[in-house]
Amino acid sequence: KTYKGIGSKKTVILGAHVVSPSAMELLPMEDMPLLDKRDQVIVIEEGVIKDIVPSSEAPFGEEWEVYDVRGAVVIPALTECHTHAIFAGDRAAEFHARIQGETYHDQQKKGGINATVSATRNASDEALLRNLEYWLRVFLRQGVTTLEVKSGYGLNHEQEIRLLRIISEVKQQQQALVEVAPTYLGAHAVPKDAKSRQDYIEEMVMKTMPVVRNENLADFVDVFVASVAYTVEEADFIYNAAHRLGFSLKAHLWELEHDNSWKLLEKYPFVSVDHLDFAQREDLEVVFAKGTVPVLLPLTAWHLSYDIRRTYDLIKDLKGYFAISTDFNPGTSFSPSPWQAITVGHIEFGLPIFELFFASTVYAAKALGLSDRGAILPGNKADLAVLSVPSLDWLGYLHGINPVDMVFKNGSPVQ
Ligand code: NIG
Ligand code: FE
Repeated sequence: KTYKGIGSKKTVILGAHVVSPSAMELLPMEDMPLLDKRDQVIVIEEGVIKDIVPSSEAPFGEEWEVYDVRGAVVIPALTECHTHAIFAGDRAAEFHARIQGETYHDQQKKGGINATVSATRNASDEALLRNLEYWLRVFLRQGVTTLEVKSGYGLNHEQEIRLLRIISEVKQQQQALVEVAPTYLGAHAVPKDAKSRQDYIEEMVMKTMPVVRNENLADFVDVFVASVAYTVEEADFIYNAAHRLGFSLKAHLWELEHDNSWKLLEKYPFVSVDHLDFAQREDLEVVFAKGTVPVLLPLTAWHLSYDIRRTYDLIKDLKGYFAISTDFNPGTSFSPSPWQAITVGHIEFGLPIFELFFASTVYAAKALGLSDRGAILPGNKADLAVLSVPSLDWLGYLHGINPVDMVFKNGSPVQ
């Protein structure tokens, strides 16, 4: 069959070995079906996948753009659902000291997040913008076309708004390449120059959040709930305001220790809860009962010598699902590589490679509340990555290289 002369922009990708999750529902991981078909043609119209047909039935039109990938594996582009990609400076010295036995907890007292806050406050708008653009390109080259970015290294009204405005500017400028989902994480640490904890919490809730909302500077509000950051009660107060203002909610939970933050899940709807290294079975039962997406961060667990395998086993036992992400940040995960996260998830923690693949695509999109990407299915965005590896089995096995050859965003080649 030949579709002709419709006048709209069409693209076809020929000779694709399509490998993709093939449902958009939040299914238990083990029920997520895999689409694995060689010699397919992906038909794209106006940036959206129209059809996936065998090459023998390939439609052609005269003015179509045609890309022949000659049998290469084509997967949905990846979604990075948890990054702290806007910051200045580095914490290399802390990192190496940690390798020699210092703990992250202790480092938070003298440096830690607040050290990056100082460097970020001292950086110009332009430097922060250029840094973020740089990291965004690094992600794009590896097949990431949707990227969440959290604020959180400003930690006062002016500085957090400044970071979110820079994220917004990059978001506008780069939208044809990578879609940015901004998150307000004012509650990342208690700033050391705050008058008091209570004072800063009130500033976030009364002053900053309404501006973030009015200027539409963030989709999500996130809180780092931990002994080194905010208590469950403080988080409750912050989420209460965020929820009333209409923000979607995310949370850093059970990263460094266990606490009773399941209470927050009972009270507010969370799109995702992230880290979960110290989550208990009962916590995860609430997560799944609420339809929230748990996000595992293998690189952070690896950096901090925690074990996500235990959390993963609980998830599987509960017939649940999960997403993964890099948690890219200068403190606990200085690696802007989704492939590194997959490799570490596989080699260090023993998570199955196809589950890590699903967790980086369809479930990662769900962790941002998105149901129009992350799987090569008709109706989804034509955000695709063409791989240089001959099969998905090679992921995690061949590692330390970027397996992405070409990236399509909304049906256009961008890399
Ligand atoms: O996700 N948990 C809070 N935020 C980061 C660490 C940030 C930092 O150390 O600079 C994380 O691990
Ligand atoms: Fe994080």
